[in-house]
Amino acid sequence: MRAVVYDRYGPPDVLRLEDVERPAPRDAEVLVKIHATTVNRTDCGLRSAQPFFTRFVTGLRRPRNRILGMELAGEVEAVGAAVTEFKVGDRVFGGSGFGAHAEFVCIRESAPLAHMPAGMSFDEAAAVTDGAMLALACLRHAGPLQGRSIVIYGASGSVGTAAVQLARYFAADVTAVAGTRNRELVRSLGADRVLDYTRTDFTKNGQTYDVIMDAAGKHSFIRCRGSLKRGGIFLATDGVGNLPLTLLTRWIGDKRVAMGITRYSKPDVRFLKELIEAGKYRAVIDRRYPLEDVVEATRYVELRHKTGNVVLTVSA
Ligand SMILES: NC(=O)c1ccc[n+]([C@@H]2O[C@H](COP(=O)([O-])OP(=O)(O)OC[C@H]3O[C@@H](n4cnc5c(N)ncnc54)[C@H](OP(=O)(O)O)[C@@H]3O)[C@@H](O)[C@H]2O)c1
Repeated sequence: MRAVVYDRYGPPDVLRLEDVERPAPRDAEVLVKIHATTVNRTDCGLRSAQPFFTRFVTGLRRPRNRILGMELAGEVEAVGAAVTEFKVGDRVFGGSGFGAHAEFVCIRESAPLAHMPAGMSFDEAAAVTDGAMLALACLRHAGPLQGRSIVIYGASGSVGTAAVQLARYFAADVTAVAGTRNRELVRSLGADRVLDYTRTDFTKNGQTYDVIMDAAGKHSFIRCRGSLKRGGIFLATDGVGNLPLTLLTRWIGDKRVAMGITRYSKPDVRFLKELIEAGKYRAVIDRRYPLEDVVEATRYVELRHKTGNVVLTVSA
């Protein structure tokens, strides 16, 4: 099968298309024929080994796992003898851990995989999980959101577009901060109001909020602190410097910092499917590239100005 492989950490051109052996499912695994996957910021971080500590997960000197790609949509091609949830021909979506930048991947039945939402295309289904998994991990730190005010800074990226839709679903009062070209998009996702970060600084408008989420990794607790109410929480998605703050603010001051870490789970993927089928969540896709253009797609993602998600289409 064709797969995108890499043998050393580095810039996007360490990625190349190669013919590799097609995997065979073990007893508790399904073999998925991939129709679409994405290039996301986690793929970029693992490929470039930035920050350095990612090497403790992926291999100190060189990547142990040669195929990146963590979210997918496709069809079940074969099932192991012990599999009960899926059968050949089922359309599935979710997280694969690694290995989705390929024509086929084997995934444990218990992994964060679910049947695709009715009426959704493979491209869309591939592009819904990654941002939502991190947004959910962040928002959970804030507790119940009903009736509380939240700022989602960087509302137009993969995590931002997910966070706006989820915060809206959880009945928060949502202020989204995005650039000029994405204002209408984030409003259509359910934001109560939208501020343009190129024209106005939300930390200087005199308003205070219960929750501020930096969905783009571009803000900081220090700069936002004055815009949080007493007991408020700053939700970070990026920045190693936020880790000590999560500990310090537990003991000092009346405002907290928490950091979300992407963690896919089957219940969360199923929850997302329900939201999509109820018309409460949708995919936001910026560009689509064929698998063989993975280097170009990756360069685009690394500009850090994509709107929502970048899809790789795969046709075996
Ligand atoms: N903690 C984890 O486990 C984990 C996992 C994955 C990703 N992350 C981090 O999560 C963050 C979000 O990821 P993502 O994939 O959603 O990012 P992304 O899609 O690359 O974000 C791009 C968006 O951010 C907006 N943006 C860029 N600069 C901005 C600024 N100064 N102010 C406001 N908005 C700005 C862009 O809008 P314009 O084009 O209009 O500027 C663009 O729409 C990143 O920092 C990423 O590293 C964390």
